[in-house]
Formats: sequence, structure tokens, C-alpha cells
Amino acid sequence: MKIDASRFPALKAPPEVQQPPKPPSKSLITLSTLMMPEHANHLGNVHGGVIMKLVDEAAAIAAMRHAGSPAVTVAMDSMSFKQPVQVGDLLICNAMVTFTHRSSMEVEVHVTAEDPVTGETTHTNSAYLVFVALGADARPRAVPTLALETDADRERFEAGAERQRARLARRDKERRFSTPPREG
Ligand SMILES: CC(C)(COP(=O)(O)OP(=O)(O)OC[C@H]1O[C@@H](n2cnc3c(N)ncnc32)[C@H](O)[C@@H]1OP(=O)(O)O)[C@@H](O)C(=O)NCCC(=O)NCCS
Repeated sequence: MKIDASRFPALKAPPEVQQPPKPPSKSLITLSTLMMPEHANHLGNVHGGVIMKLVDEAAAIAAMRHAGSPAVTVAMDSMSFKQPVQVGDLLICNAMVTFTHRSSMEVEVHVTAEDPVTGETTHTNSAYLVFVALGADARPRAVPTLALETDADRERFEAGAERQRARLARRDKERRFSTPPREG
């Protein structure tokens, strides 16, 4: 699919030059948002979709930091919610790039809910997303390689490579079944 670059004046990518490798820690960001009544259902539980949007935003910032250019979400792995998030909680998304290929980057997002009164925190879920860096022509562009500085960086990279292989295999399989579902 091709994005029409002229429709997005904000898509101001710097010229594509080979950038030096960057460690994952350079992309690390924290996005904290106070959960308000408009984020929740009638029971006071925050909608899963609201959490997914914040996860996507946090991951996008980490990806753009790493790429040094705009980036778009190309895949989001399945997400399950272990604990409810309540109105009044602070939702904290910590995001970091874990794996890169040519133009794609995997970002891990770790989500916690904090009761700002008691300081109690709960890990609600973790998620993996894949972003693609875009050039000024709105086509995929190369990202800096990851400088793996610690054993944890290397383990995350290997695990990310494995997940990406599985995603691409799934994508290729789904392409073969791309007609809409129907009865019978
Ligand atoms: C992102 C986009 C520009 C990529 O275009 P494309 O023609 O598919 O480009 P390619 O096939 O070269 O894929 C680009 C990269 O994405 C990766 N990729 C593509 N589909 C993927 C998937 N389902 N899962 C994981 N990675 C995927 C490819 O492996 C490739 O990575 P690499 O360059 O590191 O090897 C295009 O798919 C697009 O515009 N998608 C919509 C994005 C969007 O609107 N997101 C929501 C709002 S931000």
C-alpha cells in the first residue's frame, strides 16, 4: 500500500543519510496519562482500546526517536489485559526499540497502572509493535542499526528477530486468504 505524501504535510523526513548505530536505550520513552471518566466504561474500567492507543503512541515515539524520521505502525501483536485499569489511575507506558531490520523496528511497550494516592503499581500488560520508518516520499527508508551494548539488549534482539520471522510468515499466509469472510 502506498501513502500519498502530499496529503500529510507533517511528513517532513530529513534527507536519507546513513546514520550511526544507536543503542536501544536512546529510544526509551515513558508516556504517562491520567485516566479520566471519558476513557472508561460505565463500571469505571478503562477501555482496552484506550490502552491500545496509548501503547501505539508510546511505541511510535520510541520508533521515531530511533529512526530519526516519521514512522508508521505496520503490525501490533496480540494484547491481553491481566488487570483492570481504573479511572484515577496513572497509565504508564514504557517503550523501547528491541529489534531492527532494514526499515522496520520492533518496539516493546511495558504498561503499568499507578494509583497516584497510594503509589501502588500494577503491571497490566506488555505489547510488541512493528513500525516502518518513512522517507519524504512516504516509502520505507533505512533505520540505524541497533548498537547492542548489554546481554539484555542481545537477548531482546534475538527474541525480536524470532517474533518478526513469525509475523512475516503469518502475513504471507494471511495474504493467501484475503477474501472477506462469508457464511457457509
Ligand atoms: C508501512 C508501509 C509503507 C510499508 O509498505 P510496504 O510496501 O509493505 O513495504 P515493504 O513490503 O518493503 O515492507 C517494509 C518493511 O515492513 C515490514 N513489514 C511489512 N509488513 C509487515 C507485517 N505485517 N509485520 C511485520 N513487519 C512487516 C517488512 O518486513 C519490511 O521490513 P524491512 O524493510 O526491515 O525488511 C505500508 O504497509 C503502509 O503504508 N501501511 C499502512 C501504515 C499505517 O497507516 N499505519 C497506521 C497508522 S500509523
